[in-house]
Amino acid sequence: MFTPAESLQKNKDYTLVSWSAQGAWNPVIIERGEGVYVYDANGKRYLDWASQLVNVNIGHSHPKVVRAIQEQAAKLCYVNPSFGTPERGRLGELLAEVTPGDLTKSLFSNGGTDAVENAMKAARLYTGRQKILTRYNSYHGGTFASAVAGGDPRRLANEPGVPWIVRMPDPYFYRNPVYRGRTQEEGDAIIVEMVEDIVVREGPENCAAIMVEGYSGSSGIMQPTAVYFEGLRAICDKYGIVLIIDEVMSGFGRTGEWFGIDHYPNVKVDIMAVAKGITAGYVPLGATIVSEQIAAHFDKHVLWAGLTYSSHTLAMAAGIATIEVYREENLIERAREMGKKLRKGLTDLAEKHPVIGEVRGAGLHQALELVKNRETREPLSAWNQAQSEPMMKVNKAAREGGINLFTRWNMIFNTPPLTITDEQLEEGLTVLDNALSLIDGYYEG
Ligand SMILES: Cc1ncc(COP(=O)(O)O)c(C=O)c1O
Repeated sequence: MFTPAESLQKNKDYTLVSWSAQGAWNPVIIERGEGVYVYDANGKRYLDWASQLVNVNIGHSHPKVVRAIQEQAAKLCYVNPSFGTPERGRLGELLAEVTPGDLTKSLFSNGGTDAVENAMKAARLYTGRQKILTRYNSYHGGTFASAVAGGDPRRLANEPGVPWIVRMPDPYFYRNPVYRGRTQEEGDAIIVEMVEDIVVREGPENCAAIMVEGYSGSSGIMQPTAVYFEGLRAICDKYGIVLIIDEVMSGFGRTGEWFGIDHYPNVKVDIMAVAKGITAGYVPLGATIVSEQIAAHFDKHVLWAGLTYSSHTLAMAAGIATIEVYREENLIERAREMGKKLRKGLTDLAEKHPVIGEVRGAGLHQALELVKNRETREPLSAWNQAQSEPMMKVNKAAREGGINLFTRWNMIFNTPPLTITDEQLEEGLTVLDNALSLIDGYYEG
């Protein structure tokens, strides 16, 4: 259609990019994707080490999902949400099968943000209470309420946002001072005590929900022990609070389980928000899935939520085919196994590069936290500021070396498609090794 240079110019002249000052935007123009690779307009190949935004879990252009979308498009693209379709019923049923506990009924949305918004609405309508408790190190979406719910700095420019979000301390073992001189479980127990204190001070009768990511994602892949999640569940039970688990990023096999919260089998979920991996990004889709008890409440009470594209038929077809791919190709187990190999590779990198302060995560959902000094743990790039010179160097080297890398602050995310092979894992780790070699000199140990 255009030369690569024309495409670049038209993107810059006629479109805006999210979360960025526009002038510095200089995107790679991608023309096609296949498996774990995407290809730019000049034919250069990039290994998708990030699965785009941690959503293309089954790799690009999977023939089964492409075919399902094509066939559905030829039959019926869309009906309004008051109609049922065979595809909508089937996808709802599949979600009830793969999600834990008695999560049963799905309200479909366009993505993760609105799945979270609807989860908060459902919890508030169900309890008749207003406040939602969330963490600083979390991200829950880009609209006003969901952005304020997430504590990370993407919320700051739009504050004060909504007044009914209450922030809880983070179970951040590597950085939260609560953990100093304590085991992770001891620290988690203290965090739980602090959360209960906050609930009491906020008035339990005002607290509708506690909302956390099932396995923390873009704010740092930090993961507490069962003491934390079981403690949150106990607080919810004691005070009649709903537990919302946001699985937008950690769902659909990412962490080596169907959902991040499956790492804590004793924790019952009242409402789950999902998106991303539900269609692996092929068509936009999210869902808010509620327990039987909450579903029964809405048998008699109006669910005050809706979207023109709720239960979009193309997205339903894509979702069904994607879940079948996870099952038929055993991608959940595969993520668990490949995750062990990824961890070995990242640990080897940490032995070579002292800037790696911590390796953490599970499955194909692992982060490197980079520091200037392993004793002081001073971050190599600050929270809430433009990325530092060494982080920019890593990004540039990754791009030149042919991998699509997702970094934020002082963290590198290692979240390739669940279909990645041993050789492709090696390919990515080698580019990362070379990129990190360029910044070894920033270590101040
Ligand atoms: C945990 C979590 N919740 C919600 C969202 C928002 O989802 P979306 O960007 O699809 O609206 C994201 C996006 O990255 C996320 O990671």
